Amino acid sequence: MKKQLIKRSWAEPYKMKMVELLKMTTIAHRKKAIKEAGYNTFLLKSEDVYIDLLTDSGTNAMSDQQWAGLMIGDEAYAGSKSFFRMEKAIKEYYGYKYIIPTHQGRGAENILSKILIKKGDIVPGNMYFTTTRLHQELAGGKFYDIIVDEAHDPNSEFLFKGNVDIDKLDILVKKYGAKRIPYVSIATTVNMAGGQPISMKNLKELRVYTKKNGIRIIHDMTRVAENAYFIQQREKGYEKKSVKDIVKEICSLTDGATMSAKKDALVNIGGFMAINDYDIFEEARNLVVVYEGLHTYGGLAGRDMEAIAIGIAESVNDHHQRARVGQVEYLGHQMESYGIPIVKPIGSHGIFVDARAFLPHLTQDEFPAQTLAAEIYIDSGVRTMERGVVSAGRKANGENYYPKLELVRFTMPRRVYTQAHMDVIAESVAAVYERRSKIKGLKMVYEPKYLRFFQARFEIKS
Ligand code: F0G
Repeated sequence: MKKQLIKRSWAEPYKMKMVELLKMTTIAHRKKAIKEAGYNTFLLKSEDVYIDLLTDSGTNAMSDQQWAGLMIGDEAYAGSKSFFRMEKAIKEYYGYKYIIPTHQGRGAENILSKILIKKGDIVPGNMYFTTTRLHQELAGGKFYDIIVDEAHDPNSEFLFKGNVDIDKLDILVKKYGAKRIPYVSIATTVNMAGGQPISMKNLKELRVYTKKNGIRIIHDMTRVAENAYFIQQREKGYEKKSVKDIVKEICSLTDGATMSAKKDALVNIGGFMAINDYDIFEEARNLVVVYEGLHTYGGLAGRDMEAIAIGIAESVNDHHQRARVGQVEYLGHQMESYGIPIVKPIGSHGIFVDARAFLPHLTQDEFPAQTLAAEIYIDSGVRTMERGVVSAGRKANGENYYPKLELVRFTMPRRVYTQAHMDVIAESVAAVYERRSKIKGLKMVYEPKYLRFFQARFEIKS
């Protein structure tokens, strides 16, 4: 008998214990809802959404262990047992020496930027992130993108689009001098590039370069375990290492970190700053009291810190990451089967559809990605978000940033949706793709000053 090669699929390493019922709506209802929301998916009411792919931030399903942890959260104002448990988990799994809890990632970015950045400083990074760059700028710094060119090309299939181009960094160091560069800002994985990883090889080279020049590396470790999974899958020498060990190695190559625990760490709220330098820690411990709360809670309830401690341990489990990234890949492959242009390689936290290629008849001033997100919502109630010219915002001189990438992000909450949901999403995008030539662009009718993508309002261009 001929032996057959049987494909072995991944499946979720958990089962469901409780479900949340969703409201099913009609196209007419959704047309009205998106118009009322100014064609901005951030302004929709969540009860009008069927499958919510707005973000993977704080939208995770916690485990029974985490829910149980909530019950034993210690709500003491000072010296909470839950803080010490969270601190222990951070030291054990990430290896940083000193920890400051914050209400979420941007709280940590604010404190860190205030301490390290002086007016006129240069902050190079592997692509910007909205809140990170804003805090760098508010502290007086200027952000410079030093990511490899491949990251800006949605068609490049380079496996480590999160890598730093060290030559680009070297040009900045030669031009401004290392003294004006308080740190290099490194994200694992790179959100705005499509959830793309940095390789260990690149990070090691960056460590050598920065050590030589006396420059710190600050790690935006929001999705570090997802980055570690890609290293395990793609980088020579790491095939047999666990996600847990790779995460620790990544962190060991950096001097400190900011973390939005709302992603990797599988909770609904929380974050922290971590640093190995005692003097910086001391200043942060002082500043956190001004902006977040006492240094043993930083804006978090004891139960939140308890859930983070448990979530960190769950996040570095190899099976968890395989299912997490596997689900995103499944959705990507479904879309590709319909010919939808997506950013490749498929990233860790979502599928990024190339809105310029999808709607080639729209100029960037007609907001192709914003338009496409609204159309997909109307078609099926699937909520996505714009990652293009609206998110990029304006420069200090008032001019628009015009990013090369004009994307719609289908961000996957962790442990929330099923494979059947993935099919429904891909079919909806395919339906919109079929009628793409009839889609009209948008005009912006209200623009807030900061992080405009959250609250801007639009109308259909006539
Ligand atoms: N860094 C990265 C890479 C992020 O993706 C985020 C948040 C932050 C920092 C800020 O953390 O939200 O806890 O204050 N990203 C969310 C998103 C909002 O939808 O991509 P936060």
